Amino acid sequence: MRQTVALIATGYLVDLVHGAASQAYTWKNVVTGGGGGFTPGIVFNPSAQGVAYARTDIGGAYRLNSDDTWTPLMDWANNSNWHDWGIDAIATDPIDTDRVYVAVGMYTNDWDPNDGSILRSTDQGDTWAETKLPFKVGGNMPGRGVGERLAVDPNDNSILYFGARSGHGLWKSTDYGETWSNVTAFTWTGTYIQDASSTYTSDPVGIAWVTFDSTSGSSGSATPRIFVGVVDTGESVFVSEDAGETWAWVSGEPMYGFLPHKGILSPSEHTLYISYANGAGPYDGTNGTVHKYNITSGVWTDISPTSLADTYYGYGGLAVDLQVPGTIMVAALNCWWPDELIFRSLDSGATWSPIWAWNGYPSIDYYYTYDISNAPWLQDDTSTDQFPVRVGWMVEALAIDPFDSNHWLYGTGETIYGSHDLLKWDTSHNVTVQSLAVGIEEMAVLGLITPPGGPALLSAVGDDCGFYHTSLTTAPSQYFHTPTYSSTNGIDYAGNKPANIVRSGSSDTDPTLALSSNFGSTWYADYAATSSTPTGQVAYSADADTILLSTSSGVLRSQNSATLATVASLPASAIIASDKANNTFFYAASGATFYLSTDTAATFTATTTLGASTTVNALRAHPSAAGDIWASTDTGLFHSTDSGNSFTQIGSGCTEGWSFGFGKPASDDAYPVLFGFFTIDGVTGLYKTEDEGVNWQMISDSSYGFGAASANIVNGDLATYGRVFVGTNGRGIFYGDASGTVPSATATATATAAASSTVKVGSSSSTASSSSTVGSSTSTAGVTTSKSTTLSTTTKGTSSSATTSTTTGSTATGTSTAYGQCGGSGYTGPTACPSGYTCTYENAFYSQCEYAT
Ligand SMILES: *[C@@H]1O[C@H](CO)[C@@H](O)[C@H](O)[C@H]1NC(C)=O
Ligand SMILES: *[C@@H]1O[C@H](CO)[C@@H](O)[C@H](O)[C@H]1NC(C)=O
Ligand SMILES: *[C@@H]1O[C@H](CO)[C@@H](O)[C@H](O)[C@H]1NC(C)=O
Ligand SMILES: *[C@@H]1O[C@H](CO)[C@@H](O)[C@H](O)[C@H]1NC(C)=O
Ligand SMILES: *[C@@H]1O[C@H](CO)[C@@H](O)[C@H](O)[C@H]1NC(C)=O
Ligand SMILES: *[C@@H]1O[C@H](CO)[C@@H](O)[C@H](O)[C@H]1NC(C)=O
Repeated sequence: MRQTVALIATGYLVDLVHGAASQAYTWKNVVTGGGGGFTPGIVFNPSAQGVAYARTDIGGAYRLNSDDTWTPLMDWANNSNWHDWGIDAIATDPIDTDRVYVAVGMYTNDWDPNDGSILRSTDQGDTWAETKLPFKVGGNMPGRGVGERLAVDPNDNSILYFGARSGHGLWKSTDYGETWSNVTAFTWTGTYIQDASSTYTSDPVGIAWVTFDSTSGSSGSATPRIFVGVVDTGESVFVSEDAGETWAWVSGEPMYGFLPHKGILSPSEHTLYISYANGAGPYDGTNGTVHKYNITSGVWTDISPTSLADTYYGYGGLAVDLQVPGTIMVAALNCWWPDELIFRSLDSGATWSPIWAWNGYPSIDYYYTYDISNAPWLQDDTSTDQFPVRVGWMVEALAIDPFDSNHWLYGTGETIYGSHDLLKWDTSHNVTVQSLAVGIEEMAVLGLITPPGGPALLSAVGDDCGFYHTSLTTAPSQYFHTPTYSSTNGIDYAGNKPANIVRSGSSDTDPTLALSSNFGSTWYADYAATSSTPTGQVAYSADADTILLSTSSGVLRSQNSATLATVASLPASAIIASDKANNTFFYAASGATFYLSTDTAATFTATTTLGASTTVNALRAHPSAAGDIWASTDTGLFHSTDSGNSFTQIGSGCTEGWSFGFGKPASDDAYPVLFGFFTIDGVTGLYKTEDEGVNWQMISDSSYGFGAASANIVNGDLATYGRVFVGTNGRGIFYGDASGTVPSATATATATAAASSTVKVGSSSSTASSSSTVGSSTSTAGVTTSKSTTLSTTTKGTSSSATTSTTTGSTATGTSTAYGQCGGSGYTGPTACPSGYTCTYENAFYSQCEYAT
């Protein structure tokens, strides 16, 4: 039988010659077990035991399971709704405890073109309905750890409030989040901006939190008393006594110019606890207080664990034990040195005990037992740090289980910690700090390779260096080290000697290139680079003698570990690749121009342009055939079998492509399987082709969308047929395995034949293997405003400038102070140190001026 039929109305065609081509894909995370990114919020439902959620800034929301693991709730996000992975607030309904709400959107500046949304779920996040807001929401903006700025009325759960950013004020819903209107009586929109120097930091953080006084009302009626905290250096805590009709400043609020990060009610004490910091976070803040407000008496009391004169941190995470009135905890937002501080009080803040304390410098009493068995890589086992950072940093999320005084969780810039023995803090003063982020995979992935004969996978990762994955199902014991990089920006292997690996990453102290000759198991610094050599994509020659490094300040080359030298014939930031079989061939592209080197990257010559393309997005060489090179561009996919002297465009239906890679074919003599993100017949997703682009199958689906196509890293597995790796920007690494009949290899294996055939697309939706039914509805519920209410449906991916959650570099001039901060992701202050002091790297977020002995 040989015929072509239209399968569904939307123009998908399945060629029945290859009718068995649709294989079912099963998707799982490559396990790192430790999160790997910032968790700005954790909320427990106060009425249903065990119901809790965590929100991330770039990787969606998660639900807690009874075995301490987490279930991701937003893996459906795809190229058209990638920004739904930015969660600026989350609210769990105290009455109908299956209801949960999130405010989503990634950036309020132009990195994200879309307005934000409120997503609502009635099944604890398994499925969601959406209402588009008439303004942006910034899940990955400054101040993303304040909150929660979304809240459900505990006496009438049809009522919700949402505090917006960017001057858009307070919003209210009276129909379970379906429609929203502006609370015009609330006129304080929050004027604080973090830093006027960039669009990213100069947008007002807006409203910080909404806290209902549940005790002021009765079940079934709107709660009369509502507190709202606003990110403002002036008056910043406001109250309504009439269910939101009128509002006033809470008089007596301390006026230090600090920003209220959290406002947590202790109902039985009739007290509101507030943490203040002089920065919006999550990186900044050097001063602050903790205050409580007695709602009955109207009296404010400073209960700060550290006196104003002595503090060098602001306060973030704040928790009350609902079972034990007067038991409260607070975290320094960032105590960068020597380690984060968390405090606990059993007497409503009159006295505090810390999680560690100096016992005569440099001796420290550690009042905790550290347990990272779930993610051993969280500490570098070769570290010689005098003061290892274990408690964390960026602690905005801190919560005590309302049903279990022993159970606490807190979020850091890197993982979630907590334990089930919190009461030991009060008895033996030795609580467990245990990594409890299993199931949360939040990394922003920058490179993935599977060198033949090597481990299951090697990953290059933003903020967490990268990993040698001996197994896809167990957490790595270490990140790459010696040298350790905060982010590894590029990784490649030598095609003929695949145990030889090169990586490029950022470091304040070590050369930014590292080499391995045992598949990345151990490494040594390549002194071809210094610590100030810029980092970027790398390409390793097939015989492992030459490294090509593409950076925004030029393309650099080193042969036999000689000092890097600029390759004058290539523009900065060129896309690069090495031939995997012929040591002399390197490839590059910039704009629409393709370049070839036949002298081991010493010189490049422009050979051709790629059709009507204006941008080449990725180059990949065939894993074993010399001169066989592919390019994805803004107009499609191109293939050359003559080292890039000429290219043929693949199929007319493929109109754009991003990251792609090759995997093991079904039979050894077949062409490798090509996997990648493409737009084919107008549909952007993850595709595979087993016949060089004649037939395609979309293998992303309605349950697994992988977020922004342009931000992802794709590679096939050269060891396992059908397996593909997808590195996301905030949801870690996925691997997909195929089941079902192997497509028959009837395509003519030449690019010319491929190019002349019509692209045929098999939709995988009918064969998706997932058992989950997650997916957002496309409800167009109205917003009661004259502004746009339409659902945005056609967005392209993120730009690379928005890649990770922590990419801002300091542009400040001037000199920091002795032992002051001088660097770190997100830091915007001076980077020079006073005479006699050296700026010393402590971690990805903090470098300090230390005395040079
Ligand atoms: C909402 O109300 C506030 C306060 O009246 C106002 O400043 C803001 O512009 C309003 N936002 C929108 C989107 O209408
Ligand atoms: C709050 O103030 C009232 C009135 O002065 C007092 O009776 C009550 O004990 C105070 N609450 C707390 C928790 O201190
Ligand atoms: C913190 O701020 C207060 C109030 O402005 C000030 O008095 C104090 O000196 C500051 N602390 C430090 C360490 O700068
Ligand atoms: C708490 O326990 C850990 C490990 O059991 C130990 O290293 C630490 O010294 C203890 N802290 C105190 C203050 O006893
Ligand atoms: C690599 O390609 C060059 C140019 O075509 C050729 O001269 C050389 O023999 C090739 N090397 C190998 C090892 O095949
Ligand atoms: C992307 O996700 C949305 C919402 O789940 C869905 O409606 C749409 O069909 C998906 N697009 C693709 C190409 O899968």
